[in-house]
Amino acid sequence: MIRVETSAELREWTAARRRAGDTVGLVPTMGYLHEGHLSLVREAKRRGHAVVMSIFVNPLQFGPNEDYDRYPRDLDRDRALAERVGVDLLFTPSVEEMYPEPLQVTLRVGSWADRLCGASRPGHFDGVVTVVAKLFHLVGPDEAFFGEKDFQQLRIVQRMVRDLNFPVAVVGCPTVREEDGLAMSSRNQYLNPEERRIASALPRALRAAQERAAEGERRSRTIIDQVEQQLRTAGLVIDYVSIVGEEDLEPVETIDRPCRLLAAVYVGKTRLIDNIALGPEKER
Ligand code: PAF
Repeated sequence: MIRVETSAELREWTAARRRAGDTVGLVPTMGYLHEGHLSLVREAKRRGHAVVMSIFVNPLQFGPNEDYDRYPRDLDRDRALAERVGVDLLFTPSVEEMYPEPLQVTLRVGSWADRLCGASRPGHFDGVVTVVAKLFHLVGPDEAFFGEKDFQQLRIVQRMVRDLNFPVAVVGCPTVREEDGLAMSSRNQYLNPEERRIASALPRALRAAQERAAEGERRSRTIIDQVEQQLRTAGLVIDYVSIVGEEDLEPVETIDRPCRLLAAVYVGKTRLIDNIALGPEKER
């Protein structure tokens, strides 16, 4: 595995791989890798790509009171994991490399950025699409791999590609979970053992909601009320619980098409998100 820190080296490497006839897959991350990230690399390799992984904690997508400074970082560990799973090139730019001067031009997401996670994280998705657009330009991947755990992010990036004609296919990959169901996330390491135990109520509540929908409950309000009650009883503080259309992220009253139940909660100071498919085509 090669590691580079500059855009020039990255471009040179991808150009050489293309000349050699390879396709390129991109796995963008903020590091502190876990099985969720590694599953994206495995999928990219399975599809036969030369795999570029980026590790960049993007300041643009953090609000002033968020955890940019304390976001977990461990490059030595990440490098070993990336190499083990078969990443071909690891791109680890500095903030100065990505943003040599304050940006005059950035991307802005429309109303999809004001709902769900966007409602409590203003500017977050603008920061995400701006850095993802830069990474797409720098790498020029054939396919880029994102986890469904960040479902709103996945849909917004797919929409960016469609709206702005990026020549890349965005592949969503299933959420990878701990044994007790908690979705893997770099932020899980903020949790102390008691918080970690409480956090497992989130996937349990989502799973129970999926079962109720599969049994025939079609009213979103009823399902949301039950999920909220379960979360509160477990000691979680709710940011939002919402059921939206799988494709359009519009709130739905009746679950009569493929939908997503999404939730964000606080355990102590840590904000966790998760989601699950509901509705006719996705019931399991
Ligand atoms: O999901 C993430 O880790 C980040 O939002 C991403 C896509 C790498 C952009 O910084």
